[in-house]
Amino acid sequence: MATVPAPSALRVALLGCGVVGTQVARLLTDQSDDLAARVGARLDLVGIAVRDASVPRDPSIDRALLTEDAQTLVEGADIVIEVMGGIEPARSLLLHAIAGGASVVTANKALLAEDGPTLYRAADEAGVDVYYEAAVAGAIPIVRPVRESLAGDRIQRVLGIVNGTTNYVLDQMATHGLALDDAVRQAQELGFAEADPTADVEGYDAAAKAAILASLAFHTRVTIDDVSREGITAVTADDVAWARQTGHVIKLLAICEASEAGVSARVHPALVPAEHPLAGVRGAFNAVFVEAEAAGELMFYGRGAGGAPTASAVLGDVVSVARHRVLGGKGPAESHYAQLPIAPASSAVTRYQVRIAVSDRPGVLAQVAQVVAEHSVSIEAVRQAPIEGSQDGVTAAHLVFTTHHATESALAGTVAAIADLDAVQGILSVLRVEGS
Ligand code: NDP
Ligand code: HSE
Repeated sequence: MATVPAPSALRVALLGCGVVGTQVARLLTDQSDDLAARVGARLDLVGIAVRDASVPRDPSIDRALLTEDAQTLVEGADIVIEVMGGIEPARSLLLHAIAGGASVVTANKALLAEDGPTLYRAADEAGVDVYYEAAVAGAIPIVRPVRESLAGDRIQRVLGIVNGTTNYVLDQMATHGLALDDAVRQAQELGFAEADPTADVEGYDAAAKAAILASLAFHTRVTIDDVSREGITAVTADDVAWARQTGHVIKLLAICEASEAGVSARVHPALVPAEHPLAGVRGAFNAVFVEAEAAGELMFYGRGAGGAPTASAVLGDVVSVARHRVLGGKGPAESHYAQLPIAPASSAVTRYQVRIAVSDRPGVLAQVAQVVAEHSVSIEAVRQAPIEGSQDGVTAAHLVFTTHHATESALAGTVAAIADLDAVQGILSVLRVEGS
């Protein structure tokens, strides 16, 4: 039987020419000789689909490549790179590309977290690749390590700072005492946060990444709807100051775990002990901490966003899928054989720090301790500090207690009962403590 000769060039279609797409196009051009040597075939950028081809672009972009007809562009491509974002038309274009025999590289976490399996199934049937390293934590290699390097191990837990904007905001609050709104405004001025920062500060971006990581780590389909999500909008300057006083830093974490109840994925602000490696992740950087049975603890650190860092991850995937087209074969397909149940958020077990305002009089601490014990929650440590300025002649104090591990439902019951005590003036904050 005659063998099919390896192609000497591959047709690459780029969907999107924004923050990431511009850098992908630049690297494809600037590094074309190196890329050809690494792949064994030239990567010819045959077109760049945009919404509006008439608007000014970075001077590195060859305007002759721009088109508003993405549908026609993907037809006949060997590799389609999708960096346009959103669910539609990205999903339809990628399915059209796959049906036409193209391999696909995407940075689109929102699409993968909502409907990744539709793409993976289509790619499996067509015998092509879907690669998406850039969809989680930008430049940081994390998809490939979880999907391939750790494929022989059993991952127990993934704990990540996967959103640079919120890490920058929390870091500014901690280091400069800024209020949340001021820190968000600063992040916008520096170009970290979008004009509408909702996806970042409300945790949607991190939740999409958590869904992708949990699916990979636990060989189970996890969508963004399965992720319990809480953003950073309720974090106050007082919370940040108290975190420091108790030896912690507040981070927005994505936490993926497997337990007897199944797979859980959650995103929320949490207190991280100051000595934990994730506590030292500053500014807009990302880091993912993986706990695996045989490998032990691993940490992946770097830039989680930005045009060039994200383009680096995209290009790495492009080289991989291009090599498969030149040499034959394909990369790993979706692995969902374990099909673990999705554990309800209320089953998550962790430690908590609760800060309440109480009337500072004899017996109050004992009342609070009794309520906690009645809910089978165990206190690990308690601190008290006076609140300046008393109300109606009643001296008030902050009472801050940290629990041992407890379920979310037990903690919620405890906090509700504490709030009902006469001596309790208010629940000031309830934060989970992770990483210890
Ligand atoms: P941008 O908004 O900067 O760019 C989007 C590009 O897609 C634009 O060029 C836009 O065209 C084009 N586009 C959008 N909709 C359409 C459409 N319907 N038809 C044709 N073209 C369209 O996004 P980013 O570069 O920031 O992000 C791209 C993807 O990468 C997203 O999925 C994002 O989540 C992901 N990502 C981004 C990171 C980052 O740091 N920015 C980091 C990691 C992942 P036009 O220019 O004409 O408006
Ligand atoms: N907006 C994201 C962040 C980058 O701040 O990390 C894209 O995932």
